Amino acid sequence: MIRERAYPVEPWHVRETRLDFDVLAQSESVFALANGHIGLRGNLDEGEPHGLPGTYLNSFYELRPLPYAEAGYGFPESGQTIVNVTNGKHIRLLVDDEPFDVRYGDLISHERVLDLRGGTLDRQLRWRSPAGRLTRVRTTRLVSFTQRAVAAICYEVSVDEPSRIIVQSELVANEELPEQSRDPRVAAVLESPLQVEERLVQRDGGLMIHRTKASGLRVAAAMGHEVDGPENISVSSEGVDDWVRTTITCELKPGQRLRVVKLLAYGWSSRRSLPAVRDQVGAALAGARYSGWEGLCAEQREFLDTFWDTSDVQVEGDQEVQQAVRFGLFHVLQAGARAELRPIGAKGLTGPGYDGHVFWDTEMFVLPVLTYTQPSAVAQMLRWRHSTLDLARERARTLGLSGAAFPWRTIRGQECSAYWPAGTAGFHLAADIADAVLRYVDVTCDVEFEREVGLELLVETARLWRSLGHHDRNGLFHIDGITGPDEYTAVVDDNVYTNLMAQRNLLGAADSATRHPDRAFALGVDQEETAAWRDAATSMHIPYDEELGVHPQSEGFTRHDEWDFASTPQDHYPLLLHYPYFDLYRKQVVKQADLVLAMHVRGDAFTHEQKVRNFAYYERRTVRDSSLSACTQSVLAAEVGDLELAHDYLGEAALMDLHDIARNTRDGIHVASLAGAWIALVAGLGGMRDHGGRLSFAPRLPSRITRLGFSLIWRGMRLRVDVQPHEVTYSLRDGDPQAAIDLTHHGEALRVAIGVPVTRPVPPAQPTGPPLQQPPGRAPARRAAKAD
Ligand code: BGC
Repeated sequence: MIRERAYPVEPWHVRETRLDFDVLAQSESVFALANGHIGLRGNLDEGEPHGLPGTYLNSFYELRPLPYAEAGYGFPESGQTIVNVTNGKHIRLLVDDEPFDVRYGDLISHERVLDLRGGTLDRQLRWRSPAGRLTRVRTTRLVSFTQRAVAAICYEVSVDEPSRIIVQSELVANEELPEQSRDPRVAAVLESPLQVEERLVQRDGGLMIHRTKASGLRVAAAMGHEVDGPENISVSSEGVDDWVRTTITCELKPGQRLRVVKLLAYGWSSRRSLPAVRDQVGAALAGARYSGWEGLCAEQREFLDTFWDTSDVQVEGDQEVQQAVRFGLFHVLQAGARAELRPIGAKGLTGPGYDGHVFWDTEMFVLPVLTYTQPSAVAQMLRWRHSTLDLARERARTLGLSGAAFPWRTIRGQECSAYWPAGTAGFHLAADIADAVLRYVDVTCDVEFEREVGLELLVETARLWRSLGHHDRNGLFHIDGITGPDEYTAVVDDNVYTNLMAQRNLLGAADSATRHPDRAFALGVDQEETAAWRDAATSMHIPYDEELGVHPQSEGFTRHDEWDFASTPQDHYPLLLHYPYFDLYRKQVVKQADLVLAMHVRGDAFTHEQKVRNFAYYERRTVRDSSLSACTQSVLAAEVGDLELAHDYLGEAALMDLHDIARNTRDGIHVASLAGAWIALVAGLGGMRDHGGRLSFAPRLPSRITRLGFSLIWRGMRLRVDVQPHEVTYSLRDGDPQAAIDLTHHGEALRVAIGVPVTRPVPPAQPTGPPLQQPPGRAPARRAAKAD
């Protein structure tokens, strides 16, 4: 695990003060830079040692066969795996005859800093070579938010004695990748997936164009260099096979500095010709040269200033969480900022985990955050889903269903899950997409989006539910044989989460069709169909266990045998790696918030009393073997009044990657959990809900947090919420002078107008209900006692 002291607590930086080879792969994920289009793992400039080399382009994948010992109808035959594309990060250094390598000689100091405001990864080191030469290296890397196809590295060298310096800067394709474990969460390793199509070498750079063998995608990577330093610097380039190298040589004296700015451009296409892709990266490189290094840094800073101005969350009293929530928001932005009609994967572009696939994580955890902070990115992501509708319709036909069946996991839109009980059967994804559409439309009033894109997504998902479910002889609507969010319970009837989300989907589709009758008509929707949706929604069966006074997460769940937690060793978590699914499926053991998630996102469907009882019941049975759970448990813990527990879960969600809590940060960061830190703060401690497009808050702070401040974009205005232990102030920024927002504060209706902040007292929490207890050994780390 990453030891806490590796990253000292600072508000705007993640600093690594020394290089720890044992956690190299984790730190490569933590220090990954991305803009939603390009992703560079935080590999050392010189390429080795490495944990896992990684350079990714959103949606650039290779196909691979999905072998089955026993195949079945409708099983996907081919999977998609993200490709480690041409690595442009490599910069090797030779001081006199000796290659700089942190494993040799004496690494006197080594520091890396992720600058959350500057959007750069900075590295500074002092190294004494085995022959005793002292060299200083300072590098800064960025993946541009403003120039989507561009990344850049500024590499500076200085010396204590006159030395001959050789810098070799490379583009390398088909890097050898380390063997992977058998953990199902890691990626398949592809052997040399790229076939070279063109290599071009110029004096100060070059480019390479490759194509994947099976998916037929073409990728171009180009590099150019700007060199500054002593006189008589020689620059030359060469290339063979899968690499191009630019070599920069000079004599460096003490007091002098060699500075190499490496500009990188990436482009890929499934359709464009080789000359077109070549020109595309050429143009991107020209744009980067035009801005220059200083210009790129200034644009990056300006972009982030705007982002933080709206999105920053201030937490006083727990500086570790303060740092972690900013780190999380930074990675959420990196995953989605410039994805532009491409998916946002579960790991963003920080590692190959889960093969680079997008799951429901994005709609239910990432998009809610972006909706209130960077709504344009949400529209883009949902437009991507929309662009895959034909594939989803085809999949629904294969499954004998109407409407659209979106893939459980994918890169390009085809189903890639080889395990249908926790894949295809996870139909709730359809309602999760619909939920994201409805929230985005409520928050932005983007009518054009709703007409063009949103309505069709709502209609096709509503059609899916109507064909997947059925009315029983008493008229109740059931959705049978599906899997809810908890993957330790599969193929069940009437999963409460799924049914409540489908209910919202069906009603949302009918309402949206009424708002856009012409477009609905064009989609073949008539009154009979919308009436059928409303009928299914209002007759939706929600199981309830009268005897225990709780909701079973799906029909019959509370009747199942209990899991023997007392005899489960701590090193047998996650359970999926130590117990067969058949045993997990028939016991009351919950991998991740399921009914508890329903109580958050469909909180309007439960009474407070039900929330209290249900939460206590599921706390005892939830093991959090998924990183998607802690944030939701935080939200409900806050709602039922256990603010300390809410704080503990918030800490777990926020520190998931900085502390490598799930022990797989090496494969990439957990974007949904990091987004979940925002959710835990805003929806948990802030008590924000948006049911039916109405904003409500119920803020309360745990003992250690003395202040919480956050802002939300709401219909073009910016609402700021400032919470202190005994009072909260709501204020409005932007919008015209008459603008105002109606909201509720702990049930009291308020109107907040521009220039007229409203302050209200915070009522004390009155926890009621049974004591909250987790399975033995599964309680989250306590935060109340920690000192800053
Ligand atoms: C979780 C899923 C999630 C996937 C990708 C699994 O462990 O159970 O809910 O979508 O990880 O993050």
